[in-house]
Amino acid sequence: MNLTIDGKAVRVRKMDKNLLEVASRVRVVIPCACYRSDRAKGCCRACVVVVNGRRRYACVTAPAEGMKVTVTRADLKALRRQRLAEYRQKKGSARRCCC
Ligand code: FES
Repeated sequence: MNLTIDGKAVRVRKMDKNLLEVASRVRVVIPCACYRSDRAKGCCRACVVVVNGRRRYACVTAPAEGMKVTVTRADLKALRRQRLAEYRQKKGSARRCCC
């Protein structure tokens, strides 16, 4: 199975469960606050990417043949920064998941 990340062709391995793992393997950094924690997956919304023109969360999106994934874009970077700040604020104050 193949897809592209920021225009670069990437071959998906069977062990890649989601886009976050695919990107990580090819050294594309996508911020993620909840994925490697004990909190619910898909909670921080910081791993937002664009897949075939629509916003998706990389940690809960399974790779599929022909996907066109955009990670590096100014608006996505700003959105991730905002969501990470919100997540940290909620995490610190409420001690609960934000979703
Ligand atoms: S890592 Fe938190 S929503 Fe994806």
